[in-house]
Amino acid sequence: MHGRNTSPSPSSSSPTDRRLSALARHLEGSSPTAMASGNQSIAAAPTSGSTGSRSVFDHVVQGPEDAILGVTVAYNKDSSPVKLNLGVGAYRTEEGKPLVLNVVRKSEQMLVNDSSRVKEYLPIVGLADFNKLSAKLILGADSPAIQENRVTTVQCLSGTGSLRVGAEFLARHYHEHTIYIPLPTWGNHPKVFGLAGLSVKTYRYYNPATRGLDFEGLLEDLSSAPSGAIVLLHACAHNPTGVDPTTQQWQQIRQLMRSKALLPFFDSAYQGFASGNLDQDALSVRMFVNDGGECLAAQSYAKNLGLYGERVGALSIVCKTADVAGRVESQLKLVIRPMYSNPPLHGASIVATILKDRALFEEWTIELKAMADRIISMRHQLFDALRSRGTPGDWSHIIKQIGMFTFTGLNSDQVAFMTKEYHIYMTSDGRISMAGLSLRTVPHLADAIHAAVTRAA
Ligand SMILES: Cc1ncc(COP(=O)(O)O)c(C=O)c1O
Repeated sequence: MHGRNTSPSPSSSSPTDRRLSALARHLEGSSPTAMASGNQSIAAAPTSGSTGSRSVFDHVVQGPEDAILGVTVAYNKDSSPVKLNLGVGAYRTEEGKPLVLNVVRKSEQMLVNDSSRVKEYLPIVGLADFNKLSAKLILGADSPAIQENRVTTVQCLSGTGSLRVGAEFLARHYHEHTIYIPLPTWGNHPKVFGLAGLSVKTYRYYNPATRGLDFEGLLEDLSSAPSGAIVLLHACAHNPTGVDPTTQQWQQIRQLMRSKALLPFFDSAYQGFASGNLDQDALSVRMFVNDGGECLAAQSYAKNLGLYGERVGALSIVCKTADVAGRVESQLKLVIRPMYSNPPLHGASIVATILKDRALFEEWTIELKAMADRIISMRHQLFDALRSRGTPGDWSHIIKQIGMFTFTGLNSDQVAFMTKEYHIYMTSDGRISMAGLSLRTVPHLADAIHAAVTRAA
């Protein structure tokens, strides 16, 4: 008998056993002992490609932790049972757990049950149904721009990817390379736009004294921007301040921007999540589209459908004519193809299933409203808890601000105090995620804020 006695005999084994034993025999030939006794030429020569013990990357310095994601890193290292993470921009249930929406579960089940579905590549611009329905969701089903075929929509990697693709397109094809972003804004904005090749400037947005909008500062800064400059606008639920312009203020911003030919680039990361109503939260974008002018809009389904990790979003560019929109789309493809070739299928299929099914869509609006309402109720709970403690200061901004975050007005020393003494984690600018709070944790937070403003001020 030859061969090893562990090998099954060919006549008595199953096809799988035979394949495994064939694989084992194949690998035997490349074991170190076999190589030593066999083909010496493929053993590494001691000096080939050697750089000693030094890595070719020895000069690489440790990068800083992301300011927002770093909060979770610090939170995870804390072993206190009362620790509270208010840094993360993700919805949590009353029990502090992540939530998968029922409509998402249902639509995933429908997708799994459909055996005709395949896993082929999507086109460069993504899933056609998803794109059409996403444009309708943000611009409104009766949008003249959609009816006139002058909107191009491409599926991108959530909100961030949509912003980046839009920025790369503008850097290549738009005559003005300056983008104005609000001060403050989401920390990733300057990096996304700067790395795409745009020159980033800020416009005044938030007034710390009133903890509200610095409307005059905003108008002044946009008035002195060069004609044609790009302006990044948060469609609703401004992050991190939770401060949005009123409808009337939006109209004034629009008039000013149109009179100076400033190009609006909307970031819509919270549609429906702010007020609980999808149409209400898209009013600013629709106002700019309904005047017949051009704009860009980046949509994210991370928050409003809880699809954070699926990375599903869309970039729409509203143009003057269908002909221009077609050419713009051809250039968007040239941006996307060398970047990630084409977008992922699963998240977009979930969204398209929900958007095109009337019953699922209705159910989504109910779930969305429930999330928004829980956040609004947390605002009232926190406000009442501070008032009942007699905490110095006017905390009415907590109930006036909108969306996922409250910009508390706490300074970085007070934040550090609350982290050290109360194990409460948030970004050092005093932003807290209302979605991370619950009836159980509000008193702990109120105690911490009270102590911070009375002792560490
Ligand atoms: C204002 C704003 N824009 C864009 C994003 C991007 O989110 P994502 O890429 O997860 O969709 C976020 C996420 O927190 C945000 O707050």
